[in-house]
Amino acid sequence: MFRAVLASLAGGALAAVLLQPTAPATGSPPSAVPPYQDPHQPTSVRVADLLSRMSLAEKIGQMTQAERADITDPQQITDARLGSLLSGGGSVPTPNTAEAWADMVDSFQEAALATPLGIPLLYGVDSVHGHGNLLGATVFPHHIGLGATRDPGLVERIGRITAEETRSSGPQWVFAPCVCVARDDRWGRTYESFGETPKLVESMETEIDGLQHGHEVLATAKHFAGDGLTAYDASKAGTGAYPIDQGIDRVTRAEFDRLALAPYWPAVQKHHVGSVMPSFSSTDFNGGSTDDAVKMHGNHELLTDVLKGEMGFEGFVISDWQAIRQLPGTYADQVETAVNAGVDMFMEPYSGSATGYREFIDTLTGLVGSGAVSEDRIDDAVSRILTAKFDLGLFEHPMTDRSKIDQIGSKAHHAVARRAAAESQVLLRNQHRTLPLKRSADVYVAGSNADNIGNQAGGWTLTWQGGSTNVIPGTTILDGIEQLSHGDVVYSETAAKPVPRKAVGVVVVGETPYAEGFGDVGGPRWAYDPGDNGVPRPPQTMELSDADRQAVTKVCARTVSCTVLVVSGRPVIIPPALLRRTDALVASWLPGSEGAGVADVLFGKRSFTGKLPVTWPRSLDQEPINVGDATYDPLYPYGFGLRTRGHSHHR
Ligand code: GLC
Repeated sequence: MFRAVLASLAGGALAAVLLQPTAPATGSPPSAVPPYQDPHQPTSVRVADLLSRMSLAEKIGQMTQAERADITDPQQITDARLGSLLSGGGSVPTPNTAEAWADMVDSFQEAALATPLGIPLLYGVDSVHGHGNLLGATVFPHHIGLGATRDPGLVERIGRITAEETRSSGPQWVFAPCVCVARDDRWGRTYESFGETPKLVESMETEIDGLQHGHEVLATAKHFAGDGLTAYDASKAGTGAYPIDQGIDRVTRAEFDRLALAPYWPAVQKHHVGSVMPSFSSTDFNGGSTDDAVKMHGNHELLTDVLKGEMGFEGFVISDWQAIRQLPGTYADQVETAVNAGVDMFMEPYSGSATGYREFIDTLTGLVGSGAVSEDRIDDAVSRILTAKFDLGLFEHPMTDRSKIDQIGSKAHHAVARRAAAESQVLLRNQHRTLPLKRSADVYVAGSNADNIGNQAGGWTLTWQGGSTNVIPGTTILDGIEQLSHGDVVYSETAAKPVPRKAVGVVVVGETPYAEGFGDVGGPRWAYDPGDNGVPRPPQTMELSDADRQAVTKVCARTVSCTVLVVSGRPVIIPPALLRRTDALVASWLPGSEGAGVADVLFGKRSFTGKLPVTWPRSLDQEPINVGDATYDPLYPYGFGLRTRGHSHHR
């Protein structure tokens, strides 16, 4: 009783000191370790105790995240008291193996533990469809395909496997899931969305449960909020700027709440996501009349009053990649605005240049000194970060547990990826019951995406943008067809080879990989990946390439039946004349490492069960087009998907 009364009177930190363990009933001496090092203490007590021992430099260090390439000597971590590091897309150790990843993270961790208080660091990575940066990890379909499965249990399982493969290779934090609601398919991040309705996105937040199961990794709901609600700015198309990514939500507050904020309520209150990343985008609730757009990274009302206040978010807010540098004013203004708006940790890479984590630390230190940023705000941010670290068990187990490292890329994990690829397929057209194909049929396979695992994996795979020459363990769609067909399979990407008389045709068309604004329709051209050999990638268009159209025309004119599969991060425009040439049409999305899962539904080993997660437009000028629009005349509506009876059902 006395302790409870004292605790209630004294509260947090004072209680921690006053309630120091005196001689316990067992008569053994008081515990030698300070409360923050005692795993038997409640997290709140450990946080309060540790906070009371920290200098301002140590507190600001916890709020600072550098990129691995910034660290040429781990001593930098010790000296700066850095609390976190990340791998940006494609920022990988050499060799790119799980052991090398774990060695890298552990070497950084040792440097963090060498600080006076020994606070372990958090290492973050974009495991957005499996630990895609790691060669050998199981790569799953991107979110848009997972949305098509309508299978929350499967998505939770994928979260579990992703967390296990990520943590076993070192990182304890993933910048996933994107709970974006993609409303305009011209957005280069449409494929990172589960779909165009908040309801579908919310149903897939089981991924958070999978990721955070047993505190395996810390998840991140991103990008708060309205990243998928931005307006397309045609004046930027073809100029090198992003026409829609990182743009402005020109909507009413009511639409913003309904379409952008909605997914965050369950992410916070039901799934207890441990971190949130604000969006690069802005809001302008005056309906675009006056361009007083407010950047999310500086939006106090949404980051603090709504997210932390009304929603009760107790995790921490991590800024996006140098995103605070898009705020108005000097760097000091930007840091002050973002910290005071409610950002807790700052992704400030590239200290090598004039910018970066060193500049951030010095700037924030000055702001606290001048009183522009209060110690209370610092203590709130640091308490949130430390809470996550205690709850992850990092103080007890800071080094990588490698006991499951050999499960990375296991057959069992790939079997789940194959099932996910199969369930993500959406059958849009099936004239004369073309599908499922008979296993005895001779098959003629063509198209740019039939035998290209880089294209079917998409962005965030080995490199930031992904690439057509990026190769990961798994199967292409052609591999799957060859495995399942008992007939003769002829493959000719451009359909140059002669077509056997009785063959059925399968033409796999679609997009090449991209990420973020480089995937915007009319987005910049950039020879990003080494695989590009310096040749700038063409801007994305949502149209089929000439080569793909020709392949469809050739094959469909010569085969007994003609099935077209579209491997893409979003709907692509299928001209009516081309559509008429096809017998069957499938939206395959970005199936990831197991293209064989696509063959499973083609040949009826599994039924087609997928449903459109986004509306499929007739033409580009219909964008944005979404279910519920006043006028709605798509080629295929949201939720559409034909079914077939797989062999698992008796015919
Ligand atoms: C990127 C993305 C964000 C990602 C972060 C770290 O710019 O916007 O989704 O988590 O940087 O790679």
